Amino acid sequence: MFARTAARSLAAPSSRLFSSSAARLHKVAVLGAGGGIGQPLSLLLKSDPLVTSLSLYDIRGAPGVAADVSHVDTGSEVTGYAADQLDQALEGVKVVVIPAGVPRKPGMTRDDLFNTNASIVRDLAAAVARVAPEAHILVISNPVNSTVPIVAATLEKAGVFDPRRVFGVTSLDVVRARRFLSEAVGTSPKNTGVTVVGGHSGPTIVPLLSQTEWGKQVTGEAWKKLVHRIQFGGDEVVKAKDGAGSATLSMAYAGASFTNHLLRGLSGEKGVITPTFVKNPLYADQGIDFFSSPVELGVNGVEKIHPIGTISADEQALLDACLPELKKNIEKGKAFVA
Ligand code: NAD
Ligand code: LMR
Repeated sequence: MFARTAARSLAAPSSRLFSSSAARLHKVAVLGAGGGIGQPLSLLLKSDPLVTSLSLYDIRGAPGVAADVSHVDTGSEVTGYAADQLDQALEGVKVVVIPAGVPRKPGMTRDDLFNTNASIVRDLAAAVARVAPEAHILVISNPVNSTVPIVAATLEKAGVFDPRRVFGVTSLDVVRARRFLSEAVGTSPKNTGVTVVGGHSGPTIVPLLSQTEWGKQVTGEAWKKLVHRIQFGGDEVVKAKDGAGSATLSMAYAGASFTNHLLRGLSGEKGVITPTFVKNPLYADQGIDFFSSPVELGVNGVEKIHPIGTISADEQALLDACLPELKKNIEKGKAFVA
C-alpha cells in the first residue's frame, strides 16, 4: 500500500526466511489497546505473520480485548495487561505502538489535545525507556508533530534515545492521498503511490502529487480541492462522527501497515521505504529537526532518510506554509519535557 516498497509485498515469505530470530525479534506491544484505534489495530496485528507475540495494555479493558483477539487462528501469542501492569506489558518487546490518549471532537484542532496527551505519551515513553530501552516506538497519539519530540526528549533524558527507533505514524495521510487521488483520476489505489511529507496536521501535511504520473493529471482548482481533502481528511471523519471521536478504523489499517513495513525492515528485507515522521536532518538548519520524508527501514529501524525530491512551485508554497507551523509544534513538545 505504500510507495516504493520492494517487489515482495506482504510478509509470509519474509517470516519464513527469518523465522529463526522471529520469536526474539517480533514481540509487539500496543499501549492504548482498549481504545477506538487500539482494538482494530490489535486485531490486524494478530493477523500479521511477522508478529509472533502481542502484548496489549490499556488503563481500561485490555485483558478483555486480549482474550477476544487471542481466539483468532494465527500463530502469535496474545496477553492483556491491566492498568497497574505497564512494566510487565513492556518486558522483552521489540516494537511499541502507542495509540493511547484522547481524540478530537468537532471544532478542536489536534493541538487542542496537547494538554491531555503530552503527559500520557511522556509517561509511556519513560516506561519504555526503563523496561525496553531498545524498543522501536511508533507514535500514533496526537498531536503527532509534538508527541514525537516528547517521546524523543523523554528517551534522551533517560539516556537511551536512538533516532533510528522513534517514529511518528503519518501513514494515514499516505493512505488517504492514495485513495483520494485514485478516486479523482479513476485508478486503483494499489497502483497510485503518493509521497506525503512534512508533519501530521492540516497545513503541515504536504502531498507531493506532482511526483506521480497520476498526480500530474490533477491541476488548477481540482488540485487545490484534492490537496485540501488530503490535509483535512481527519476533520471529515471527526465531523461525520459528530462527537464520538476521530478516525479509528482507517488509522488501525494505516498503523498495522506501518508496523508491518517496520517488521519487514527489521527482518532484513531490503528496499522497504515509506514516509514517517522521524528525527530528520533535511530542515534541521531551520530549527526543524523532526520531519516526515521517505525513510528506508532496515534491521536497526531508520536505515536511510531520503530527500523529498523534485517538487512543483505549488508544492513549494505548501512546504513554505508547513515549516513554520511544524517548528512551533516541535518546540512545544520539546519545551514540555524540558
Ligand atoms: P480512544 O479514546 O478511543 O482510545 C484511547 C485509549 O487510550 C483508551 O482506551 C484509553 O483508556 C487509553 N489510554 C488513555 N490513557 C492511557 C494511558 N496512560 N496508558 C494506556 N492507555 C491509555 O481514542 P482513539 O480514537 O483510539 O485515538 C487515540 C489517539 O490517536 C488520539 O490522540 C487521536 O487523536 C490519535 N489519532 C492519530 C492518528 C494519526 O494519524 N496519527 C489518527 C487517528 C487518531
Ligand atoms: C486523523 O488524521 O484522522 C487523525 O489525526 C485524527 C484527527 O484528529 O483528525
